[in-house]
Amino acid sequence: MTTDFWPTWLPLLNAILIGISGIFLLTGFYFIRRQQVAYHQRCMITATVFAALFLVVYVTRALLFETKLFAGEGLVRVAYLGILGSHMVLAVIVGPLVLVTIALALRRSFTRHRRLARITLPMWLYVVATGWIVYLMLHYLA
Ligand code: HEM
Repeated sequence: MTTDFWPTWLPLLNAILIGISGIFLLTGFYFIRRQQVAYHQRCMITATVFAALFLVVYVTRALLFETKLFAGEGLVRVAYLGILGSHMVLAVIVGPLVLVTIALALRRSFTRHRRLARITLPMWLYVVATGWIVYLMLHYLA
């Protein structure tokens, strides 16, 4: 295995996977606002599958390769670390929230599902958006 080949496309693959999960999240939200439960369900499960794929690739990459460090300095570095920190903390929290949100829906506890989903959804979208920002800053800004 050449260590030069893998790292260049793996971060992009990760960003694409998390981006697809975000697109399905927004589409799923669009459907539930129109009371289309079956489409909502399919979109949210698909979003979860892509987020799980992201996690597999991310962990594999973290185990096999060294982490690229941000080279920027000063304010841009402070901004980068702030975004990265909030991204990581919320990513850890949102994982269990997603599982409980889905479990409530599958048990047809829709009132509780809706209440929790209104926290899970924006948090998940924040993790997706900051994932892309971190990727772009790390690979194209510094
Ligand atoms: C983690 C995955 C999911 C997320 C993030 C999510 C997100 C949401 C959100 C934000 C709402 C509230 C929409 C609003 O404010 O009008 C909602 C409602 C709803 N969701 Fe999900 N959902 C997920 C999975 C599912 C699944 C798997 C089902 C399966 C049937 C489902 C069924 C419903 C139903 C029926 C409602 C309407 C509840 C009501 O109005 O009382 N959801 N969901």
